[in-house]
Amino acid sequence: MTLERPKYVNYEKKDSIAIVTLNRPEKLNALSREVLIDLLETLESASKDPEVKVIVITGAGKAFCAGADVVEFTKSSTEIREFIDLGRRVFEFLESLEKPVIAAVHGFALGGGFELALACDLIIAAEGSQLGSPEINLGIIPGWGATQKLLITLGPYKARELIMLGDRISAEEALKLGVVNKVVPADKVVEEALLLAKKLAEKSPVALSAAKSVLNKSLRIMMSTGLEIERSTFIITTSTEDAKEGIKAFLEKRKPQWKGK
Ligand code: COA
Repeated sequence: MTLERPKYVNYEKKDSIAIVTLNRPEKLNALSREVLIDLLETLESASKDPEVKVIVITGAGKAFCAGADVVEFTKSSTEIREFIDLGRRVFEFLESLEKPVIAAVHGFALGGGFELALACDLIIAAEGSQLGSPEINLGIIPGWGATQKLLITLGPYKARELIMLGDRISAEEALKLGVVNKVVPADKVVEEALLLAKKLAEKSPVALSAAKSVLNKSLRIMMSTGLEIERSTFIITTSTEDAKEGIKAFLEKRKPQWKGK
């Protein structure tokens, strides 16, 4: 039997634009280890393809992405660590690849799904979509950059609100806060992302890549210590009793009973 690869990501080219679609709709495109591997492989092909000038990332079904697959956090501590580092590799690849990447967000962009959007250069969001970092409700914290990016984009007070309360914000509020670029009708989100991609594709690829590199390298320098603190704290929080309870409660569709350890 030959397995079709990649299984969880669709890849399509429209002129000079690559459309990368997360394709695990039954789990709201939650990022399992396999999804991350497929995403990385797909992004690597798009990055190498000379015909591709701009990449658009979107999700199949009713959500962009509901975050890291929480089932990954029920595995051994070595597997959890490998999973966290795999996600980091994907997001760092996105930020360092030479072509601009646009996230076309609809439905939900939560947790690692929000961080996936935040690793893209521009974010177009559908009206009615919801974004946020709800990890606190699972007894963990964001681990793929949201603490640092929200701190820089929103300032400490709003960043604390998002990370410590874990409430979702609407696309419209995200636009006001400067964490998405444009909000468009839900049925137009990919179309609008493609229009934006087309505009970018008309620019000099050399200058575009230089602009992306300056912006992202500077951001990375600003965030580097914070990202390390985030990673090590995230790894610790995934092994607490509260994390185990929070994740179990989510999977059992009930309210968690925190133990404070
Ligand atoms: N990891 C694993 N599975 C997930 C998931 C995630 N992050 N997010 C959603 N799913 C699964 C659900 O368990 C459910 O699976 P099931 O049909 O086998 O029970 C399926 O995707 C559909 O999700 P459901 O919760 O039934 O949809 P909803 O419309 O009622 O709620 C959300 C949508 C996004 C509000 C809800 O799924 C949610 O809170 N997801 C988790 C978000 C999160 O905490 N992300 C950070 C993870 S670290």
